[in-house]
Amino acid sequence: MTAVVEPVASPGRVSTTATPLALYDRVLHSAALSRPAEFLAPRGPVAPGAVLGGSANLLLVDPAGGRPPQHVPVARWCGGLRMGDDALLAHCHAATLDVGCGPGRLAAALARQAVPVLGIDISAEAIRQARRRGAPARLACVLTGDLDARWQHVLLADGNIGIGGTPSRLLTRCAGLLRPGGDLLVEVGPPGTASWAGLVELAVDGERSTPFPWAVVAIDDIAAMAGRAGMRVRETWTEARRWFARITR
Ligand SMILES: C[S@@+](CC[C@H](N)C(=O)[O-])C[C@H]1O[C@@H](n2cnc3c(N)ncnc32)[C@H](O)[C@@H]1O
Repeated sequence: MTAVVEPVASPGRVSTTATPLALYDRVLHSAALSRPAEFLAPRGPVAPGAVLGGSANLLLVDPAGGRPPQHVPVARWCGGLRMGDDALLAHCHAATLDVGCGPGRLAAALARQAVPVLGIDISAEAIRQARRRGAPARLACVLTGDLDARWQHVLLADGNIGIGGTPSRLLTRCAGLLRPGGDLLVEVGPPGTASWAGLVELAVDGERSTPFPWAVVAIDDIAAMAGRAGMRVRETWTEARRWFARITR
């Protein structure tokens, strides 16, 4: 999760019981319990940069110990638009698929702008929250779901290029969801940072999830990655220490 996670101290010894999805759902739910009323308004305004309280200290952990644990900023995803979101959203002029939409801040913002949008996520709690914020959203796996190939833009924000742990496979799949002339809008890691792929676990409150595959792609590597998927990087930009690439066939 390149641009959205920060290294933190090791979580120490924990038990491994829950699936990643169960842990993530629980953390999202606890964030929602302390959600201010403005976040529940179906299409109401959300203060820019607003962040919710009450979310647990969710960590992304390398089970092999090779990479330091990183904070997963769920509260940030549950809040209002982040710095850098506006430029990303400005690239979305027509039908947009927000892959791994989480609680739906981007999809809800596009819906408010009357841009046709669908958020998809494998988390039922994320879909519930996204819908409550006014985002059209449905439960679906980007890799295996039955999804129409009709999108002008496919968003992979907040490090979602890591979904599935094989970025070239994910890019190929997302490219297959585009209509002719469409593009992928991908958030990547800053220059000079390391790309990696491997197993990770979620850790929170003395509990650890079972491992699942994840990946990080730095901007230095996105052209090669896109090339492996038969695509090309057409544009890159940076804002608020976040980095993005627009990729087409
Ligand atoms: C890094 S978080 C992104 C948060 C989100 N962009 C937001 O604004 O809140 C990754 C999201 O991708 C979802 N996800 C993971 N695997 C997925 C898959 N195979 N298909 C669809 N969504 C997936 C997770 O449930 C999670 O909500």
